[in-house]
Amino acid sequence: MNTQNTEKQQEELQVPTSLSVKNAAQVLRMPEDGLPYLRHDRAAELTLDAGSLSTQDGRITDFSHDESAEIRVDASGCAIVPGFVDAHTHLPFVGWRAEEYAQRVGGTSYEELAALGGGIAASARAFAEASDDAVLEQSGSLAHEMLMHGTTAFECKSGYGLSIEAELRALRLAMELDKQVEQHTVSTALLVHAVPPGLDADTWIDQVKAAMPEIRDKTAAQAVDIFVETVAFSNKHLEHLADCASEFGLMLRCHVEQFATHHSVPVAPSVGARSVDHLTFMHADDRAKLADAECAAVLLPGAEFLGEERCPRARELAHAGAICVLGTDLNPGTSPIISIPLIIGLAVRRYSWSIREALLAVSLNAAWTLGLSAQIGSLEVGKQADFLLLDGPVEEIPYRFGRNPVAACFIAGRPVYVRPDAKERFELPATMQ
Ligand code: NIG
Ligand code: FE
Repeated sequence: MNTQNTEKQQEELQVPTSLSVKNAAQVLRMPEDGLPYLRHDRAAELTLDAGSLSTQDGRITDFSHDESAEIRVDASGCAIVPGFVDAHTHLPFVGWRAEEYAQRVGGTSYEELAALGGGIAASARAFAEASDDAVLEQSGSLAHEMLMHGTTAFECKSGYGLSIEAELRALRLAMELDKQVEQHTVSTALLVHAVPPGLDADTWIDQVKAAMPEIRDKTAAQAVDIFVETVAFSNKHLEHLADCASEFGLMLRCHVEQFATHHSVPVAPSVGARSVDHLTFMHADDRAKLADAECAAVLLPGAEFLGEERCPRARELAHAGAICVLGTDLNPGTSPIISIPLIIGLAVRRYSWSIREALLAVSLNAAWTLGLSAQIGSLEVGKQADFLLLDGPVEEIPYRFGRNPVAACFIAGRPVYVRPDAKERFELPATMQ
């Protein structure tokens, strides 16, 4: 987690250390403090009472107004919610694949495009041809757009390398991106994404196993990830990767049941996966196993919508008490989406979720998926003050579908984005005017 960034900028910009936001119409709080995650059958317990919030030295100190704070913000008519945590993105990447999207809309499947050399292989070629600066420029600008839409922490994945050397480069660029952006980032080594040209899947897994010490020593990866699918890898490979993850003290994430049922869900939680992601084709018989597990169900409604995939069993998973999470899946293939408000809008409509269910899935539970829920993901005294000022009640996020409600975004108690029309809400010290 990038903590240096905040300290560095507070020093350089002489940012005041206390801030207070008063009179919000809603403040989103968890039912108790200290929860690592909250199962979704308890989402109705999230509270949205009117209130204020104060911070000191980057942490939340109180839920009352502090008139002596250096920055004072009038939040009347607004909602205060935790900064959005996007627990599934494929940053850093370079280039787009709009022509593939047009082909998919025209009826060509993702698998057919992959067989023709498109898909992940196409983005891997773009990544190989681009300079480090070009990758960082595109990725940094996407991260800035994400910030303006309320994302204060996000996951980075490698996966467009398709060789050990190029995967190490992707993870090094993720570390570089972390230094350049305002947000906290957590890296995942998606080493098992597509079978590299000229290799078979088993040979690639052997190479990945051999490279694990280098991944541990030279990168900031906190997790490994795998794509289990007919065009990619199998449950057997998932089990091999689980062994690597536990040997090297990394979390295990996995892309599963995206285009077909492979019954990866009972396998992944039983080998200790932190999350199973996509789940569009998860079999009904596997639902109870996931709902009871300490394994997040990461749902990606943007990829589902743009891929015209069927709806996952999200309503049932929430009802059964799974640890549900929403993410953008930001990537150049299946989901070129940066906006968590848009993802909330899709989830509420397609999954028949309440706004509390959707907000829980982009806050505490998303932070837990990244191993960060002791620091961020909920508004609690002592936690890092990452929060958003929304320009209306939270119920308007899904209802005014496609609109960005973020009026201001704070990381570690520092305003890192303020929409021009929200500036009049701020009372700043003379040094900041
Ligand atoms: O999450 N499914 C595998 N990985 C990505 C897609 C990657 C790509 O097509 O570039 C996903 O959908
Ligand atoms: Fe993905």
